[in-house]
Amino acid sequence: MTYDEALQILKKYGQEHILSRYSALSPDEQKSLLDQIASIDFSVLDTLRDGGASAARGKFEPLGAVTIGDIEANSAEYRRVGLDTIRQGKAAAVLLAGGQGTRLGFDKPKGMFNIGVTRELFIFECLINNLMKVVEESGVWIPLYIMTSDKNHDDTTKFFSEKNYFGYDSNYVKFFKQDMAPSVDYDGRIYMESASKISSSPNGNGGWFSSLVRAGLLSDIREKGVEWLNIFAVDNVLQQICDPLFIGAVVSSGSQSGGKVVSKNDPEERVGVLCLEDGKPSIVEYYEQTDEMKTRLDENGGLAYRYGVILNYLFNVDKLVTIVDDKLPMHIAEKKIPYMNEDGELIKPDKPNGFKFETLVLDMVHMQDSCLAYEVVREREFAPVKNPDGVDSVVSARELLKKNGVEL
Ligand code: UTP
Repeated sequence: MTYDEALQILKKYGQEHILSRYSALSPDEQKSLLDQIASIDFSVLDTLRDGGASAARGKFEPLGAVTIGDIEANSAEYRRVGLDTIRQGKAAAVLLAGGQGTRLGFDKPKGMFNIGVTRELFIFECLINNLMKVVEESGVWIPLYIMTSDKNHDDTTKFFSEKNYFGYDSNYVKFFKQDMAPSVDYDGRIYMESASKISSSPNGNGGWFSSLVRAGLLSDIREKGVEWLNIFAVDNVLQQICDPLFIGAVVSSGSQSGGKVVSKNDPEERVGVLCLEDGKPSIVEYYEQTDEMKTRLDENGGLAYRYGVILNYLFNVDKLVTIVDDKLPMHIAEKKIPYMNEDGELIKPDKPNGFKFETLVLDMVHMQDSCLAYEVVREREFAPVKNPDGVDSVVSARELLKKNGVEL
């Protein structure tokens, strides 16, 4: 991209300040800045005008789940179908590890965090150990695709190779990078990190499938005959990946997708709930739930909107291919964004100073014709590491790991 082409784009979006120090840059820095301008999707800035995902929602109704009791009663059948699916090579896993994990305050990829106490036990290692149990049970290696971002790709890939993939067969592990989105101040002006670097951040976990396709990995998926992708977050150290019972339940139900859920502890719990929106599966984030939704009871006296999602979904590849170009709603998140001031100094603010743009995997659920809510035992499968201490933290996750017999 030439300087003039870059300037044309920036003018369209009122962002010419990005090139204001161009003439003082070295040739390499100039090239790098033009490359960034070429790769950034500036159309996300339009979201600030139209309000993005906060736009009106449809009519919500509760959605039932396959409960823990149902699963126990059908476990032999679910396990048989799930293991068959895995043994035929039809299931693969996708680890979403492109986030910045700002709440944890750890300066490396979250998966490199050592959650061990008397020994080293990294978050990535916990996840691989969990997947390994299924490999051992089924007798086949399960392909694992790992999404990273520009910010953590090199650290992540290097770590896996240094640790010898924690015993996993590296031929079955493939990395791909997600896209970045620019960060802006409250007036929609893009921040700069330095004279040659646009402030940008990973664009949310919603773009995982389009990024995977762009990285050329769909052909790998097709060649292997994979039909189902199990998407999961990096931070739940009790995450059960490619769980044969879950896969078996979704496949037997004929549902197009599935989502693991836990029963909400109380109406105010800050978790997105799986329900129906205009007759299609959908997730309503906790901050979008009205008091009526939070407290409504069903005929048995339990919460009607009771099933909270834990970022563990099963999607069908054929369906994903048909929706890969559909636009996901853009979420605007208020964040602390490091930036270069007028004097060229890098400032790290201690309170939010602008917006980042993100699409979310949970919005993909609404693009499915059906989604099986599959209830799991919270204490066995949900130990998210979001914060250093308190709720969903290193401390609470350690306790849950111990309860589940993991030596720390
Ligand atoms: P979170 O919503 O917890 O975001 O991610 P985060 O960025 O990691 O953490 P905070 O909010 O800054 O503390 C849920 C999952 O989605 C992945 C994360 O790595 C995690 O597995 N994710 C998030 C991505 O892969 N890409 C993103 O852009 C954002």
